[in-house]
Amino acid sequence: MKQNTQSEWVQRSLKSVWHPCTQMQHHETVPLIPVSHGRGAWLYDTDGNRYLDAISSWWVNLFGHANPHINTALKDQLDKLEHAMLAGFTHEPVVRLSEQLAARTGNVLGHCFYASDGASAVEIALKMSFHAWRNAGHTAKQEFVCLKGSYHGETIGALAVTDVALFRDAYGPMLRQAHVVMSPDARAAREGETAADVARRAAHSLELLLQQRGTHIAALIIEPLVQCATGMAMHDPVYLSEVRAICDRYQVHLIFDEIAVGCGRTGTFFASEQATAKGTEGAEKQSVWPDFVCLSKGISGGYLPLSLVMTTDAIYQAFYDKDVTRGFLHSHSYTGNPLACRAALATLEIFEQDDVLNANKLKAQRMTAALQPLAAHPNVRHFRQRGMIWAFDAKIDDPAAAATFSRRFFSKALESELLLRPIGNTVYLMPPYILSDKECDLLVARTAAVFESVIGGDS
Ligand SMILES: Cc1ncc(COP(=O)(O)O)c(C=O)c1O
Repeated sequence: MKQNTQSEWVQRSLKSVWHPCTQMQHHETVPLIPVSHGRGAWLYDTDGNRYLDAISSWWVNLFGHANPHINTALKDQLDKLEHAMLAGFTHEPVVRLSEQLAARTGNVLGHCFYASDGASAVEIALKMSFHAWRNAGHTAKQEFVCLKGSYHGETIGALAVTDVALFRDAYGPMLRQAHVVMSPDARAAREGETAADVARRAAHSLELLLQQRGTHIAALIIEPLVQCATGMAMHDPVYLSEVRAICDRYQVHLIFDEIAVGCGRTGTFFASEQATAKGTEGAEKQSVWPDFVCLSKGISGGYLPLSLVMTTDAIYQAFYDKDVTRGFLHSHSYTGNPLACRAALATLEIFEQDDVLNANKLKAQRMTAALQPLAAHPNVRHFRQRGMIWAFDAKIDDPAAAATFSRRFFSKALESELLLRPIGNTVYLMPPYILSDKECDLLVARTAAVFESVIGGDS
């Protein structure tokens, strides 16, 4: 790899750009990569180095950089309408997108409210839940429940239901306290317990809370199937059926934050499709649907900031009134941006044209098989996979080595043309869906080599 720390763009960026989620001083030793362009699964820097984007640029990119189908759609849209406000106006891309997404839920979640980033969708779902209860006369319902290790974004409301100390602690006094309940993380299995047993145990702990506080609780918010930001904690789908039934029992809204896990990432378009509503096993199986779904990241194919909240007719009707103050008076300037919606429509077209969910099943099987030698490495714990996400925990005995593992792995991976950013000691792969077999093999072989070299250096 050519050294680019002296690149003009790096120097100018370090002076003028405050980079996200970064202790800027670390860039004294950790490289900042000046990206010049992207193509398929690869990013290229200004010195001609290339990097396989094995984490889909923070989990947003589904079909590669500079995807020809999405590019064509965007160029067409650019000549028609770049933006118009969505209050009092509407346009074809936002209507078609809302209809197509609703259809994917069998029209159970038939109303789409738009925003830009994931955190704003979470804010909207929380506010909508709170306000719906208020409009219905349940003014005591003001509290929220989230899971241990949950991550729902960094704005004040979203951070209040986020349980990652690193992101939360500095702002603790600014945040409204949420109830934090046991995570169904399968790694918490006790001797003889299955992942489903852990899920049921976690659901039971939720039920105990709702028994006591249900009349004060507006909603439970969860990341279905995979709690990504805490370190790809995966759980059994039975958790979703259990919490749906419990929330119904105690009249608590259920919010599925599918910002990271939606759009096919876990194997189905919505993660929640992998759960079966309680009591409907067998012939007339029904999916589990929440009261609110938050989507973002992959929905625009990784092109433009777009997020949305889908909800039911019952919630929508709770706001439908002559009285303006009973309406949902929330807005962002770029709500429902036509370019972003058009990118999303082009993304959905690719899902259909390329039968992506079925193709991903085969890709995932192949990758999982190829990763088996790494899974069996003596320093690998809890190798796990769900859809197009693979993760494992590095066993590092020395606390000093553990503290720097992620940054050392990141730097070493870059030298091997891989963009990988472990979370703590969890290494994960979350690549775009368009990897060729050759690229999969390259990714697996080099990930194993990087791991060996970083772990070898630790011992
Ligand atoms: C589950 C989940 N919710 C919300 C967010 C916040 O999204 P954004 O970074 O677009 O605000 C993220 C981001 O990683 C996420 O993983």
